Amino acid sequence: MTTTQDTATLPNGLSVEDARAEAARTYELDRTHVFHSWSAQAQIKPMTIVASDGSYVWDGDGNKLLDFSGQLVFTNIGHQHPKVVAAIQAQAAKLCTVAPQHANDARSEAARLIAERTPGELNKIFFTNGGADAVEHAVRMARLHTGRYKVLSRYRSYHGGTDTAINLTGDPRRYPNDYASAGVVHFNGPFLYRSSFHAENEQQESDRALEYLERLIQHEGASSFAAIILESVPGTAGIMVPPPGYLAGVREICDKYGIVMIADEVMAGFGRTGEWFAIQNFGVTPDLITFAKGVTSGYVPLGGVAISSEIAATFDDRAYPGGLTYSGHPLACAAAVATINAMEDEGMVANAKRIGSDVLGPGLRDLAAKHRCVGEVRGLGVFWAVELVADQQTREPLAPYGGSSPAMNSVLAECKQNGLLPFANFNRIHAVPACNITDDEVAEGLRILDAALDVADAAL
Ligand SMILES: Cc1ncc(COP(=O)(O)O)c(C=O)c1O
Repeated sequence: MTTTQDTATLPNGLSVEDARAEAARTYELDRTHVFHSWSAQAQIKPMTIVASDGSYVWDGDGNKLLDFSGQLVFTNIGHQHPKVVAAIQAQAAKLCTVAPQHANDARSEAARLIAERTPGELNKIFFTNGGADAVEHAVRMARLHTGRYKVLSRYRSYHGGTDTAINLTGDPRRYPNDYASAGVVHFNGPFLYRSSFHAENEQQESDRALEYLERLIQHEGASSFAAIILESVPGTAGIMVPPPGYLAGVREICDKYGIVMIADEVMAGFGRTGEWFAIQNFGVTPDLITFAKGVTSGYVPLGGVAISSEIAATFDDRAYPGGLTYSGHPLACAAAVATINAMEDEGMVANAKRIGSDVLGPGLRDLAAKHRCVGEVRGLGVFWAVELVADQQTREPLAPYGGSSPAMNSVLAECKQNGLLPFANFNRIHAVPACNITDDEVAEGLRILDAALDVADAAL
């Protein structure tokens, strides 16, 4: 493990000794008073993070870890980017806050920069505090625009933790929150490695998934659907890059039946796939885009909905019945402006694309060829999944859907032991570093992952 000497100083100026003392107190208070997301409270041991810089974080013991998790896949420009830190400080000194009904320069500029990067005519931006509320509002806009209620969303998806968003979600986090009557109809999307359509190639998978979706819509009553929501590239559910033609086919179905197409880009947006928005890899323009996470690299919470001219016009002379106290908060919007400008000025979106095609993608494919425990690697840009299996022939996952396993836990422990912080979900490890990661940092991450996969191979 990459430990830091006691005498060393962390990037935030803390000595390792002081950081350790602070971390011990932090941990104690956390366990006494903090109630964590998605967890059985008595069973968790949260990692304390005391410092971060670029692609690295330091834990409470002073260990330096290469961040391949983007935390929750949101630090798209890495940690503590000086231009964004300075912009937040400058905005705090200038004007910390205003109510959403007033106009504010940071919000106006953030809206312009975002709208300019969306495909098509998505020229209006409604700001929210994060991703789930962006999804809630996108669905509400679609329902009011169409006068319909039902919404289609795919299995193997995540759309957020609030009521509508969690009911739209197609993963096990929905089960304890499922109202069944929330107006959601789930469908299987394309995922060739675990095909629901007995397909043997991407073209078949795409064609059959589209045929099935259209039939489902007809059987459910085509005129009852307000929207289809789908992650342009599903993230937490497994980074299943859609096959060529699939998203264009969904767009056609939406047009045919008057259904609003919502692209959830909360995780895949803002450079992660090597484009500003993931849907731009597929040449498709949705009606609404939800975003959050990478828009500020997570430095200040912000989310939003980019709205087509047609849907925005619905609310020209009719009040939009929704809002938030902190919609377009100046500190968050200043962080968004600085993040987008830093990404643009430093060529981070292009770097993410190159890293995916020339460094991380090939490196992960080499690991797949070498290790028996790897069933498939897939992804693009800095958005990759390594699917671990107990058996390459049967494709039995190394941990069950919705669960973990000792083998998976040992791989993850080995990664951390050797200085790598990956993102993990069920039987998958996701390599989702910052868009500005360097080739050397990727090589370092791949070396540690290689050694950790040996542990899983040995367990088979
Ligand atoms: C695709 C997608 N949509 C929505 C959300 C919810 O975002 P938030 O946690 O900011 O509410 C997430 C979070 O991971 C996500 O990945």
